[in-house]
Amino acid sequence: MDSLLGKSFYIKTYGCQMNVYDSEKVAAMLQNEGMVQTEEHQTADVIILNTCHIRDRARHKVYTELGFLKKNKEKRLKDGKCCVIAVGGCVAQAEGGEIFKNAPFVDVVFGTQTYHQLPAMLDQAVQYSYKKSWQRNVLTNRKKEQVINIDFTSENKMDYMPMFRSIDGSEFLAIQEGCNKFCTYCVVPYTRGMEVSRPADLVLKEARAMADAGIKSITLLGQNVNAYRGLAPGAAGPGEETWNFSRLLYAVAEIPGVERIFYTSSHPLNVDLDLMKAHAEIPALIPFVHLPIQSGSNDVLRKMNRKHTAEEYIDIIEKFREYTPHIAFASDFIVGFPGETEKNFEETLALVEKVRFAQAFSFKYSRRPGTAAYNMVDQIDEAVKVERLRILQDLLQQHQIHFNKQSIGQVVPVAFQKHGKFQNQVIGKSKYMQSVVVSNINPAEFLHSIRLIKIKGATLSSLEGVVEQSAQLQSA
Ligand code: SAH
Ligand code: SF4
Ligand code: F3S
Repeated sequence: MDSLLGKSFYIKTYGCQMNVYDSEKVAAMLQNEGMVQTEEHQTADVIILNTCHIRDRARHKVYTELGFLKKNKEKRLKDGKCCVIAVGGCVAQAEGGEIFKNAPFVDVVFGTQTYHQLPAMLDQAVQYSYKKSWQRNVLTNRKKEQVINIDFTSENKMDYMPMFRSIDGSEFLAIQEGCNKFCTYCVVPYTRGMEVSRPADLVLKEARAMADAGIKSITLLGQNVNAYRGLAPGAAGPGEETWNFSRLLYAVAEIPGVERIFYTSSHPLNVDLDLMKAHAEIPALIPFVHLPIQSGSNDVLRKMNRKHTAEEYIDIIEKFREYTPHIAFASDFIVGFPGETEKNFEETLALVEKVRFAQAFSFKYSRRPGTAAYNMVDQIDEAVKVERLRILQDLLQQHQIHFNKQSIGQVVPVAFQKHGKFQNQVIGKSKYMQSVVVSNINPAEFLHSIRLIKIKGATLSSLEGVVEQSAQLQSA
């Protein structure tokens, strides 16, 4: 792919951690082709947007950005420079060729399962860009010179992607992708496809590569991470022995250098006794589970097709707590789902009071074309959604602050990953995934290590800590 050699690229990532992970893979792949990553779109020959379709706002952001990029492209072309724009990820998967209609200056559209073909697609687009007709028509409709691939291929993109890991990359490792659950509000089964698990030996190989690069803390990713069912190491193919999620957790925990494991997002239907035992038995597995419920009302849960009740969810939480008394939970909520009554909403508040989450994400229901709930009657007024979200978030935040304040005075292990806003400041994660800020230190001594920190202060969003002088260094 000669035309890519020496060209610069810029990637902007929207949406969830899976997209962050995919973008890292794409960047590694393009670097292997001799391209150079840049942090500024103005200087990039190739601009890539890795997009999210989960709520209307996420989709909207992409088109707003494309508006700016059009101006950027006009300017670069005037200056005689290359400017290929590629849109990939979940909006691309959902809208496909519509993107070319809405934004004719886009050159490449790639889906969530065709990342590994991106270098070839970009190569083609860059070659087109040298043609006179391209220069002339580039801001209008010009089908012949646009490249699209949004197939759900039988090959697994992951098998074609580099295992490249730098210590400055993220701690994410995708083990499973896609979803068969079809919650009635959700686009993920359409944008990511059906559930696929990576073979265990590939997951372990990547985890070892991460540990060897010095990454101590690993976050296992999946749209339904605990639905994992991958081929066991040595298994030849379909029909052979598989590992469940817990089996994989034990194996990842055995890798030298892996000191911390977190996973997200899990689904209540796939929680089993093995997973609860794993939390009690694996020291590296942090006592923090992200377990979305969405609503505390059984009526709403039924209409959402969540396939479990609020009581079953609370049973799961209580059982987890029996096995691991200090375990904490995070969740996701949607308010204003079609037909949600005031009473239904109060049931959500009651569930929140009962469980007391350490952290939560909450959203107003967003109507997504193509999903079952799109056509449901009794869509809720925006003003009601806004008010319910405010009330729910107030309560969740009270609990979160209370949870964070409990850390004050404690000495806790913190995994440091990035620089803070100010010089001589670092930000790490506690074993409950709280952000911990430490100031007036030399960042080089802290980054990529797990250190004992005394917590001095707590707010809704972070903890503030100081180095515990007498505390033993856990790892260099
Ligand atoms: N697989 C995970 C979550 C995937 S999407 C799970 O099942 O729990 C992340 C979150 O976005 C969801 O948990 C849900 O709270 C929210 N979400 C998904 N679709 C939405 C929609 N149409 N409107 C508002 N929020 C939505
Ligand atoms: Fe979406 Fe439901 Fe699947 Fe989660 S389980 S990704 S909310 S369909
Ligand atoms: Fe968004 Fe796709 Fe993730 S829709 S939340 S980027 S799976």
